[in-house]
Amino acid sequence: MHCYLPPFKSSITPGKKLLREYSGIPEDEIHDHAEAVRRDPFKVAPYHCIGMFQFLDLSLKTMDIYQEVLDRVKHGDKFLDLGCCLGQEIRQLVSDGAPCENTFGSDLYSGFFALGYKLFKDEDRLKTIFIAADAFHETSPLTELAGRMNIVYTGAFFHLFSLEDQEKMALRVLQLLAPKPGSLVIGRQSGSEDAGAFTRSGDTSGRTHFRHNVQSWKELWDRVGKADGSRWSVEANLDAPEFTLIAPTGKSMDLQNKMSAHELRYIIRRL
Ligand SMILES: C[S@@+](CC[C@H](N)C(=O)[O-])C[C@H]1O[C@@H](n2cnc3c(N)ncnc32)[C@H](O)[C@@H]1O
Repeated sequence: MHCYLPPFKSSITPGKKLLREYSGIPEDEIHDHAEAVRRDPFKVAPYHCIGMFQFLDLSLKTMDIYQEVLDRVKHGDKFLDLGCCLGQEIRQLVSDGAPCENTFGSDLYSGFFALGYKLFKDEDRLKTIFIAADAFHETSPLTELAGRMNIVYTGAFFHLFSLEDQEKMALRVLQLLAPKPGSLVIGRQSGSEDAGAFTRSGDTSGRTHFRHNVQSWKELWDRVGKADGSRWSVEANLDAPEFTLIAPTGKSMDLQNKMSAHELRYIIRRL
């Protein structure tokens, strides 16, 4: 599969800071190091976000809830990054003082974990537990964490799936969390003012992806809470579009999809 590989963005300041301060990579070597590592994840799976250096575009720390998350993990709460890919958000927490023993990462592809160690140069010291699993599977190794997590981070994750699969995944996430007030699901994904399903151009598999607005996302968690017998408060907002909304005549469906995409950020808290 062809993937777009834009040049290294000099604007990826938080990721560069992490590589400098946490990984000890000198400033003048960061560009070449990130560029060299970026090509490897495509051998594992060709996600668009990897080509875009999203693994250096740290999101969790930009959320208002970051300080609460950091304090809680410092005091023993267990944090899982579901669909962690290279695990950059875990490294940020650890760099800010969270004990790595309280952090967990999971992804469909174990190959990403080795690349995360290579990117962040921390295989000898990071004690995070990484679990390779399909989170949809009822009997995957991830189920060992059931009921033990306090915070699950899901970045650029739910939007990979159809609405039906998102509901299944949301139920899986609830099962991973401790069944008590304060358990948290946080994250971000592509959203849209008009909620709906879309297909990627060139994708002949028939797979659809569902993009939410605030209301449809809240409704999904209401349904999932009812099915699970739990209650959740959902804070969500759609940020300004990342791309211009000028109608793209003659442009590909992919580009049109991106042009109507906003970022949906959310904090879902068990009551
Ligand atoms: C678009 S990437 C996002 C990576 C990272 N969370 C971020 O915010 O940059 C989505 C990740 O979810 C993983 N993934 C997709 N389907 C999965 C599944 N069924 N179970 C576990 N991980 C999955 C992919 O392998 C990929 O690493």
